[in-house]
Amino acid sequence: MSHNKYYRVYLFFLALQVPLFCQYASAQSLKGEGKAADIFLKNCSTCHGNQMQGGMAKSLLDDQWQTDGSDEALADAIRNGLTSAGMPAWKNSLSEEDIRSLVILIREQRSKADHSSQKTSDRPKNDETRITTKLHHYKTQVAGKGDETLWAIDFLPDGSMLVTQKDGVLWRFHKGKRTQIKDTPKVWFHRQGGLLDVMVHPNNAGSNKNSSTSPWVYLAYSEQAKNKNRGATKIVRGKIKDDRWIEQHTLFEIPDEDKKNYGLHFGSRIVYQDGFIYFTTGEENRPETAQDLKLFNGKVHRLHDDGRIPKDNPFANRKDALASIWSYGHRNPQGLDIHPTTGKIYESEHGPRGGDEINIILKGQNYGWPKVTFGMHYDGRPISALTSAPGMEDPIHYWVPSIATCGIKFYNGNKFMHWQNNLFVAGLRSQSLHRLTIEDNRVIDEEVVFQGFGRVRDMAVGPDGYIYVAVNEKNNNRVLKLSPADAKN
Ligand code: HEC
Repeated sequence: MSHNKYYRVYLFFLALQVPLFCQYASAQSLKGEGKAADIFLKNCSTCHGNQMQGGMAKSLLDDQWQTDGSDEALADAIRNGLTSAGMPAWKNSLSEEDIRSLVILIREQRSKADHSSQKTSDRPKNDETRITTKLHHYKTQVAGKGDETLWAIDFLPDGSMLVTQKDGVLWRFHKGKRTQIKDTPKVWFHRQGGLLDVMVHPNNAGSNKNSSTSPWVYLAYSEQAKNKNRGATKIVRGKIKDDRWIEQHTLFEIPDEDKKNYGLHFGSRIVYQDGFIYFTTGEENRPETAQDLKLFNGKVHRLHDDGRIPKDNPFANRKDALASIWSYGHRNPQGLDIHPTTGKIYESEHGPRGGDEINIILKGQNYGWPKVTFGMHYDGRPISALTSAPGMEDPIHYWVPSIATCGIKFYNGNKFMHWQNNLFVAGLRSQSLHRLTIEDNRVIDEEVVFQGFGRVRDMAVGPDGYIYVAVNEKNNNRVLKLSPADAKN
């Protein structure tokens, strides 16, 4: 295809566009950004600039559009062109998937250009600092230190904080003292696998009336198959007595021959509601398994809190499906929490490049992965042209570019009054904690309230109402406590 006539028409515009060129000098190089970037450099950069900064045609980084600027409108402009403006149509030379990946790339580059103006001095210099956000000023303090990646946080009724460390250690922090719980299960500490979530049953005795009054504690971890470098997610519960792990029961496990994960996408978040536990399993980097109801991968599961399978689970009566499944079509759901007033289950899904999602989990529904996604492969190859399809649930929120979502938590404490019922979302790659305001099951506002301390894995609200965040940097793994800046302790 030749675009000579466009070049002629737009040659004199070049001079006019020079100021634009300078304005977006912070544009990021597209070299090495994968297949979508290669397509852009080959077909689009002659007019839009080799960093999207503009040239003969407009900058794609300024968020000023002739159309309404939605994903669909941009895809349509690429597909059918804006012929009167001189934008050629690409539908005959690019696939729908490629066009979708170009839209993702445009969003990514725009966000990078936005953030490149952020100075490194914006990064907090140390862990004890003060931060101002739209609604609250708060200070940070170290509430506990680990020796490896810290993955999850929950609290015992006595106020002590349990923290999982990926290599298999379960810590209890109490009044400044750190104690390792003895006799916890042996975990497969490999790539993304290890000791992952911890959840304390909110009722003291759990559903087992004969047991002692200490609560059941649930663990999600990766277990290795015998003599094989493969593993799978396992869910157990037990009790902690005199800093020892006792009375362990297995609630969910995969037989050795079906343990196929070589170390990626374990999911593994657990929540409790009304006598049931919900927990997530990742698709183990085999996307198609998420759509297969005979396989446990890429699902939200629901069990009675003692491990029995509820009779009213959506697929409980089907021979061709696993009875524990509550919803399916998930990639790597690493966050799960319950809305404090509506009781709706919220899930965060760690997506592919440009495909991180927040979903509201409904009984028996398909969340689409990998048939429908907002993302593309990490190397810029497309996955799907579809971001929505009949019979599949759309996310209520997504991030392009990805923040690499992990733990989520609704704030329901009594120390940050303006953050009541806001959803906090941990970002690994973005090193940030996002605060989402939710109204009528929709996200109406988003603010980054915490940034630059390291990869944010999880957040919890203490019985004291303060916020606790698990943040990991190389050789610096800790839980930071967020309290109002004027608080005494
Ligand atoms: C021959 C020059 C030329 C090429 C090649 C070209 N474009 Fe454009 N494009 C334009 C012009 C002209 C416009 C209209 C805006 C302007 O005045 O600059 C435009 C507009 C757009 C818009 C904005 C739509 C809107 O709502 O405002 C997008 C997105 C876009 N192009 C993407 C691409 C992509 C992706 C490619 C490569 C597959 C590409 N363009 C290749 C000239 C070009």
